[in-house]
Amino acid sequence: MPYIKKDFIERLIDRVDIVDVIGSRITLKRSGNSYMCCCPFHNEKTPSFSVNQQKQFFNCFGCHKSGNVLGFIMDYDQLSFPEAVEQLAKEAGVPVEYEESSGKPQEKREHEVDFYDLLERAAGLFEAELSRHPEALAYLHGRGLSDDTLRRYHVGFAPESWDFLIKNLAGDNPRILKAMTELGLATQGQQGKTYDTFRKRVMIPIRDKRGRTIAFGGRVLDDSKPKYINSRESPVYKKGHELFNLDSIRNLRDKNLSYIVITEGYMDVIALEQAGIHNAVASLGTATTPEQMNLLFKQADRIIFCYDGDSAGRNAAWHALNTALPALRDDKQLLFCFLPPEHDPDTLVRTQGARAMIDYLEHAESLPEYIVSTLEKEYSVADDGGRVNCIDRASELLSMMPEATLTRAAVEKRLANLVGWSQESLHSGINTAIGNILARKNARSTENRQYRVNSRNQDGYADPDNIPLTPMRAVVARLVKDPELLRAIPEPDRLVELLNEYARDRSAVLLDLVSKIKSCPDTTTGALLEKYRESGNVGKLIGLLAARSDTEVEQEGFVEIKIIDLLHFIKNILMEHLTARTEALRIKGLRNNGLDSKELMEFQYLETRTRELLTDRGRES
Ligand code: UTP
Ligand code: MN
Repeated sequence: MPYIKKDFIERLIDRVDIVDVIGSRITLKRSGNSYMCCCPFHNEKTPSFSVNQQKQFFNCFGCHKSGNVLGFIMDYDQLSFPEAVEQLAKEAGVPVEYEESSGKPQEKREHEVDFYDLLERAAGLFEAELSRHPEALAYLHGRGLSDDTLRRYHVGFAPESWDFLIKNLAGDNPRILKAMTELGLATQGQQGKTYDTFRKRVMIPIRDKRGRTIAFGGRVLDDSKPKYINSRESPVYKKGHELFNLDSIRNLRDKNLSYIVITEGYMDVIALEQAGIHNAVASLGTATTPEQMNLLFKQADRIIFCYDGDSAGRNAAWHALNTALPALRDDKQLLFCFLPPEHDPDTLVRTQGARAMIDYLEHAESLPEYIVSTLEKEYSVADDGGRVNCIDRASELLSMMPEATLTRAAVEKRLANLVGWSQESLHSGINTAIGNILARKNARSTENRQYRVNSRNQDGYADPDNIPLTPMRAVVARLVKDPELLRAIPEPDRLVELLNEYARDRSAVLLDLVSKIKSCPDTTTGALLEKYRESGNVGKLIGLLAARSDTEVEQEGFVEIKIIDLLHFIKNILMEHLTARTEALRIKGLRNNGLDSKELMEFQYLETRTRELLTDRGRES
């Protein structure tokens, strides 16, 4: 894949306005110097999401998501970084500039294997192979699948061979072989020999939401084990972030889906599709993650989990419930549909038809119904102990869905009926229990959060206001938020010089930031953050500092105060250093009966600088 030019990205960010880009996706309301609205990344009723035009920066005080225009597109449109750049360029009406195919970048490209291309070619080879294997076709036809359906899903076959795919894709190219191993298409054995992972299996390509093949599921033709082999996770495939068939659902979007069904298997989705039920997806051998829930909530307001009626299915549903709760919001609905024990969606739709399947789906249990009926089965609420345990368990579940007030109330109502308490006393009992649970969680997460800037809290994002603010970080925060302050500082070069001289190891980040701002004096917070995208922990720290709430600096007309503050902080840093160094020299002089001439000069110099700084400070305050 060609690389996008770095300076193109910076120019693109300069060219667009974050307010237009976000405003074209959600409705923004002007509020003073910025724009506010309810956060699109978490559910809330009072707006805590702000977009600052001057800084070209967005920030949510609730869930702590923040960043520049590309960060927003990545999160909101669920795109990778290069995809977000392409999308933004499209919206700005400018062609993306890729690296020239000469010189260094090309050398680099020669060493790169395009994973997507490799997977697409593998899918093509498997698909072509299917028609050559009557036993595989017979198996699939025997499952009631039509040739149309097989083509629609590009179902294929991996022949019984140790090197069918390796020979056809890699030949003796070691780089491709390595890529195949990374993608799980090839497996390295104990003797170091590499062979095809998928052999004698029906192959089902798994596509991402844009329709690119990213992995495979392979099924045996008989009852042997393991029934399925799936691609392992790879740079292009993260199980918890993908759903089988999501790409087709996205294309159905304008058909106004009233719900989406999540099944356990991709064969279920394919059978449903053939029966005319197009709105099904499958999770990929893992319990549904909050990420997947959010992907689905973007497509429909109601999500129905559909499970086999056997005990494995019931367990899976309970597990799915637990992982999905944090993503729950009042404007979205989760439902649970259980088929008769002997059926899964595939066999049900095949034996009883689409109408019967839809009937089951339309009679799915609501989340409150499902929670309370499950608790009822699990606890004997007739005796006191059972009742208390049942309420404890319910409180635990309710504490996991902070954003779904109405759903919580509905659960409490049903539960009150079940345990025979009044709704009020149950509500207050549950509230106390939730309070305790959250306090315990909070204590744990505060401990964990201390000094670990990169760690994410339970909401997923570190709270920028919880980062310990050293004077140095305060200066950095000021400058990231208001890069134009640098111009207002008298003698910035002198400052840089002093920092370099006296606090270089501690000011590396600040010095780097100053030089970045100097190289484009009209820069904004958003544009600056772009320069830190690949800077790992420093980039993360800068991003968090930019997002700190700092009410007085958000207002206009306080430039002087901000500069004075800034200088004050820098002086503090220098002072700290100067005093430490002076003190060290003083002690050394006492011990050694005096300092040598060089040290003496330094000592005198330090004293002068300290006096200067002190009188400066005196003047300010
Ligand atoms: P099931 O065992 O319910 O399979 O597993 P199924 O979808 O009904 O398959 P058929 O109808 O027998 O062909 C559900 C899902 O669990 C994962 C697969 O993702 C499958 O779709 N699975 C199951 C595995 O990964 N490996 C296995 O050995 C079995
Ligand atoms: Mn099945």
